[in-house]
Amino acid sequence: MAYNTKILQHYENPQNVGTLEDGPDIGTGMVGAPACGDVMKLQIQVDENGKIVRACFKAFGCGSAIASASYATSLLTGKNVSEAEKISNTEIANELGLPPVKLHCSMLAQDAIEAAIQDFKSKKNKLKDLENA
Ligand code: FES
Ligand code: FES
Repeated sequence: MAYNTKILQHYENPQNVGTLEDGPDIGTGMVGAPACGDVMKLQIQVDENGKIVRACFKAFGCGSAIASASYATSLLTGKNVSEAEKISNTEIANELGLPPVKLHCSMLAQDAIEAAIQDFKSKKNKLKDLENA
């Protein structure tokens, strides 16, 4: 099967691979794909205006998962958290031209984005509670 060149670009030269040191401005999402056992970790760093200034990932998985995560981090960077919440796996799958059997790889990326945002929000709420205590 011929892979779309965008998948190959992101797979062979993934963007934003790495880890951010945990802190109150960091959200970390760690998700797994039941369909194949792949694991993806995605992190965002959010500034005081709610803007995502950095995003990175590590994936133990197939090429489409790596390409999806790579594209997801490039989409996330510069977006507000509320905009980031709207990123859908269809957007990722369409951009990369993922074949139907690989759609769950882009869902993994969407799940990872959601988990990272949730983590960031729960940290922020905890901080607020502390400030108001
Ligand atoms: Fe094995 Fe995705 S199915 S790496
Ligand atoms: Fe399972 Fe890609 S994440 S095959």
